[in-house]
Amino acid sequence: MLRWLIESPSHPGWPATLGPLRVDAGVVTVRPIRSRDARAWSRLRIENQNELVPWEPTGTGAWSRRHAPSSWAPLHSLLRAEARRGNVLPFVIEVDGEYAGQLTVGNIQRGAVRSAWIGYWVDSGVTGRGVATAAVALGVDHCFGPVGLHRIDATVQPGNGGSRAVLRKVGFREEGLLERYMDVNGRWRDHLLVALTVEEVVDSAVDTLVRAGRAQPVE
Ligand code: ACO
Repeated sequence: MLRWLIESPSHPGWPATLGPLRVDAGVVTVRPIRSRDARAWSRLRIENQNELVPWEPTGTGAWSRRHAPSSWAPLHSLLRAEARRGNVLPFVIEVDGEYAGQLTVGNIQRGAVRSAWIGYWVDSGVTGRGVATAAVALGVDHCFGPVGLHRIDATVQPGNGGSRAVLRKVGFREEGLLERYMDVNGRWRDHLLVALTVEEVVDSAVDTLVRAGRAQPVE
């Protein structure tokens, strides 16, 4: 209780662990980032450079330097501070207890809007077997439940077929094209805006996946 008060004076739903949920790749759990994630984060970010660079915001400096284990501490501190302020939910995606990617909910707005964006990446060693879809469904249910949001949106490049499929499977619908929206891989890239509001989710996003045979509850 005391830990919750210290960590989260104004942020319902943080910290929290989501899942577990079984998919083809294994058992997916979504949990808060930790300072000791440095080595796993660095290793997977460096191994997956070619898969990540086409879709992520342009950064400054060499990828290997930006993703050295020593770069995790300042990033972790920043994200945890933003989480304490109620602006962000920075999660790690685990498969069978191993670090396998990240799920982030950002720009959390309260008041009359109650919305946020969601973003994610998954290690190519486990892709194509339901991990991101399960993690996004767990995140959506958490945002519409304990966090108390009404709308979640995401931006995705039209050419990112895998990510578009993830969002479609969880029930996001396309709202339009944002032209030259984000500086990605050195150029301004168009992005599709997709969104989901709480009224569109029948029971829960996880239940929808389970009914479709895409995930199984873990007893
Ligand atoms: N075109 C169409 N569909 C595709 C393609 C493609 N090129 N590649 C994969 N798919 C489909 C798969 O068949 C699967 O659908 P299915 O279950 O109906 O067969 C779906 O995409 C992928 O679903 P998952 O297995 O749940 O997702 P996965 O764990 O493979 O993760 C992800 C997908 C997150 C896109 C991963 O490949 C990744 O991290 N890519 C690099 C980073 C990235 O693109 N992140 C998303 C940025 S956009 C955002 O965050 C909103």
